[in-house]
Amino acid sequence: MTSNWSRAELASLRGFIEALEPDEILRIKDPVPMDDVPSALVMELEKSGKSPVIMLENVTGSTMPVMVNLLADRKRIARIAGLEEKDFYPAWGGILANPIPPRLVESGPVQEQVFLGDEADCNSLPLARHFAEDGGRYINAGVLVCKDPDTGVRNLSYQRLCLKGPRRFSSNLGSRGDIWEHLNRVTARGKNLEVAIVIGAPPAFYLAAAAKVAMEVDEYDIAGSLMGQPMDLVKCKTIDMEVPAEAEIVIEGELLHDEHEDEGPVAEYTGYSSYKSTRNVFVVKAITRRHKPIFMDIVPGTSSEHLLLAGIGRHARDYARLKEMIPGLKAINFPRSGLLYHAYFSFKRVAEGEARRALMLLFGLDPYLKLAIAVDEDIDVFNEAEVMWAVATRFQADTDMFVVPKVFCNQLDPSSVDGMSAKLGIDATAPKGWKEHKATIAPEAAEMARALIKGMGA
Ligand SMILES: Cc1cc2nc3c(=O)[nH]c(=O)nc-3n(C[C@H](O)[C@H](O)[C@H](O)COP(=O)(O)O)c2cc1C
Repeated sequence: MTSNWSRAELASLRGFIEALEPDEILRIKDPVPMDDVPSALVMELEKSGKSPVIMLENVTGSTMPVMVNLLADRKRIARIAGLEEKDFYPAWGGILANPIPPRLVESGPVQEQVFLGDEADCNSLPLARHFAEDGGRYINAGVLVCKDPDTGVRNLSYQRLCLKGPRRFSSNLGSRGDIWEHLNRVTARGKNLEVAIVIGAPPAFYLAAAAKVAMEVDEYDIAGSLMGQPMDLVKCKTIDMEVPAEAEIVIEGELLHDEHEDEGPVAEYTGYSSYKSTRNVFVVKAITRRHKPIFMDIVPGTSSEHLLLAGIGRHARDYARLKEMIPGLKAINFPRSGLLYHAYFSFKRVAEGEARRALMLLFGLDPYLKLAIAVDEDIDVFNEAEVMWAVATRFQADTDMFVVPKVFCNQLDPSSVDGMSAKLGIDATAPKGWKEHKATIAPEAAEMARALIKGMGA
């Protein structure tokens, strides 16, 4: 299953869902409560290596179906961009370099129904409590669209929103992205920040929102580049903002400059429940939606979807920058086992000391990283056992590793101290003058063995 979807199928979330092959989507018709069960489903499937899109067609207490796990699979993400999985990082630079600006249209399905003021009641949404410790019900797949208050350039980013009242949420802007900077600037002028929360947009929109780009870049242009056509936008009803015409639901409102409210704890990508929050209050002015909208959710914590979306933009940028400096870079893997903290990369070494240089570059590029392992080009970095084989056989701890103490890091690392962590670089490339040869099996013998054991479940 490597074929990519057509432009028409990628133009809306529902078109995309309809185009999925039966083995790519799990439709559940039994009644499902939004307390913990969607997360349990995702995590149970992941134990057996499966990550289908899940459509909960009968959610307790709501008439809306709920979709989770849309972007939980690296292959599916690459295919949305029209790529093979292995080409995703190498091709990302080209996607960013070929922006396709959006097109403003008069009307769109997302405004089939408009609820203003008191009618915009968010209690009607099927919000999940994702993990047992969570301190409330959350929108976790809402992409916040805001504008740079000085330039008007639009920004897309993911922020969780905890329901606090029918028209009130509290959010954490702790990753200090562009929206944090925009809010700080309007706060200094005594103003609120207009924000639209988009739920259930065309799949490319989610990759654009995950991109790590300069503040001057309109992330709708990246969505267009990924789709190979402009994304259609409509003007919001109550704020000066544009949102995807094909979205399922949009919540229009403002982030307040002068009010804060507790939210959390909530499951973070580290696998721990965290109270860390900037406690920013969002108030709702309107809800616009399709007649029968699909609600979208992303399971937080260590789900593949959360880890992939939280990492993919930064990782694609890490690859591009490292490749610029180390042309022999072959592949890089940020293994799921290391959450966002570990990286393995392979490269063709042309000089002694190059592995250390590459390791230091990578630590400089990505503050999340705490462990990076450099291996030779014959090692498949996507095969963790092979990487560990290189460490076992080509690495000596007294000469081939270094530690950089007290470096700026991601504050959610529970073992970090004062926002700093140590970086461990491991050079598992073969030492100078290496004469060892890998023991190999003749291809004909391997083929014969496969034929002999066929049907034995091996
Ligand atoms: C599903 C999901 C939920 C996220 N929730 C939050 C959040 O609640 N608060 C936060 O600060 N960052 C959160 N992040 C990370 C930010 O969205 C991310 O850093 C974003 O790229 C910032 O973009 P910007 O620099 O363009 O503003 C989340 C990421 C994902 C994938």
